[in-house]
Amino acid sequence: MPGLNRGVQSPDAWWRKGVIYQIYPRSFQDSNGDGIGDLNGIRQRLSYVAALGVDAIWISPFFPSPMADFGYDVADYCDVDPCFGTLADFDALMAEAKALGLRVVLDLVPNHTSDRHPWFLQSRSSRNDLKRDWYLWRDPAPDDGPPNNWLSNFGGPAWTLDPLTGQYYAHMFLKEQPDLNWRHPEVRRAMFDAMRFWLRRGVDGFRVDAIYHLIKDEYFRDNPLDPAFVPGADPAHRLLPRYTVDLPGVQAIVSEMRRVLDEFGSPESSRLLIAEVYLPLHQLMNYYGLDAAGVLRGAQLPFNFHLIGATWQAQVVDQLVREYEAELPPGASPNWVLGNHDKSRIASRVGVRGARLAAMLLLTLRGTPTLYYGDELGMADVPMQTNEVQDPFEKREPGRGLGRDPERTPMPWQGDEANAGFTTGRPWLRLSRDCATLAVDRQLADARSMLQLYRRLLALRRQSRSLHEGAWTPLGVSGNVLMYARGEGSHRLVVLLNFGAESAAVAVQPLRDSLASPLHFWLSTRQDREGAVADSVVLRPEEGVILGVAAGDVMVADTASATT
Ligand code: GLC
Repeated sequence: MPGLNRGVQSPDAWWRKGVIYQIYPRSFQDSNGDGIGDLNGIRQRLSYVAALGVDAIWISPFFPSPMADFGYDVADYCDVDPCFGTLADFDALMAEAKALGLRVVLDLVPNHTSDRHPWFLQSRSSRNDLKRDWYLWRDPAPDDGPPNNWLSNFGGPAWTLDPLTGQYYAHMFLKEQPDLNWRHPEVRRAMFDAMRFWLRRGVDGFRVDAIYHLIKDEYFRDNPLDPAFVPGADPAHRLLPRYTVDLPGVQAIVSEMRRVLDEFGSPESSRLLIAEVYLPLHQLMNYYGLDAAGVLRGAQLPFNFHLIGATWQAQVVDQLVREYEAELPPGASPNWVLGNHDKSRIASRVGVRGARLAAMLLLTLRGTPTLYYGDELGMADVPMQTNEVQDPFEKREPGRGLGRDPERTPMPWQGDEANAGFTTGRPWLRLSRDCATLAVDRQLADARSMLQLYRRLLALRRQSRSLHEGAWTPLGVSGNVLMYARGEGSHRLVVLLNFGAESAAVAVQPLRDSLASPLHFWLSTRQDREGAVADSVVLRPEEGVILGVAAGDVMVADTASATT
């Protein structure tokens, strides 16, 4: 019954223990040879995703769009863009995902629409139109310039003059992405109805794009200069976003969205709200929506991106995890993210060996991990020549290293096929030169590949309660080695991660806590010493290990049942 489970969060909710896998649909699998990935392509590859061992997929936008920002400019919230397929294809994808036990999370883009969305076409048609106030229109400044100094995240002013009516409209991103006015009740209603459209089709939740941007200052005050701005950095960071992000009123909208989701879920199978929020920890925590009665009414998972920017050192990561854990509101579930379609890939940020360590970190921390497609293969950023650039951010701010094409390149499936099996046509973005080596089929045939490491980590996480729901106990840092334990008693696991480029000896005896039995290697990022007794551990450069009491069949995950 609608509304019955408001605010209720079962400790067993799937998203608390599960792992989410992000699919950028243009780049996952093309099924019709046009060089662009599509929904049928995703459907064909669902068995791979299920066998990988994740619980849910989050699909970046596939709605009708002029593709100025590759789908983050939505022209119709309740349909599928022809380049990705049809609603019937979506329903088939949903059905197959359910059959494989996979949850499906969609990307909701509520901050802005496309400038071709009928709402905006109507809004811009006249100052008196009924939808005029659905967007943010302002008169020019006395000098005829923009109404204030707000900057677009993609460079330049956040205002564009519309000559027809002589007013400027606000856009925090491209001028093709006008911002909606979320103070308007009809805007809220329309967006919530779009959510219901997909919830009725069975989706398990939404990752909500740019949610902390939804409310802007009602007086449209200028943003202050950021005194820490370094010339040459992302020009949008010249100003502090005081009047454009995380304003009072945003939390109420997050809770309203949550209530829409709760109309459909049940405590056992709640629908999930993930919030895209790039904010310092203390502000991020507000997005859990803890109310005066101690109930969490906001997003179940406000994305925690703090590992993405963190300096890759044991001490820094240790500090980050402690601070994050300490700031969590009571009952809130932690979550961790290593990368996404907007950020340089982990293998490029920390190197391939470092990426193995990062995988072990991500999948052994407490809380829901989100994987970015292809990171399980060790895909790195693919540099683009000027004539190959697709991303509007790179086109507007060339050469600053801000472009996002490098982390969005197609997934390699079969090493021996053209375009590694991604498409029979011309791929919309070039694949990496080493795509054959990285391809899924090659890595499945290699017991020590990155893919096998991910599969083992995911299998261990699923099998071991300590990993998917156990306590997290920091054990400090020894030199370059980050140490923590998961779970308790005989189920206690010890994780040792050597961030250094040198070998490092760690005394295991003090880490055993009350455990009487010796610790064994459950898994090494090198996948070559599982099962051995770990009396004294010498970690090799950038090696990570999971240690635990020998426990028969859970000790080494099964890697035999691989499928592509
Ligand atoms: C989010 C998306 C990004 C997009 C932007 C505007 O940050 O992740 O890809 O360009 O919002 O919608």
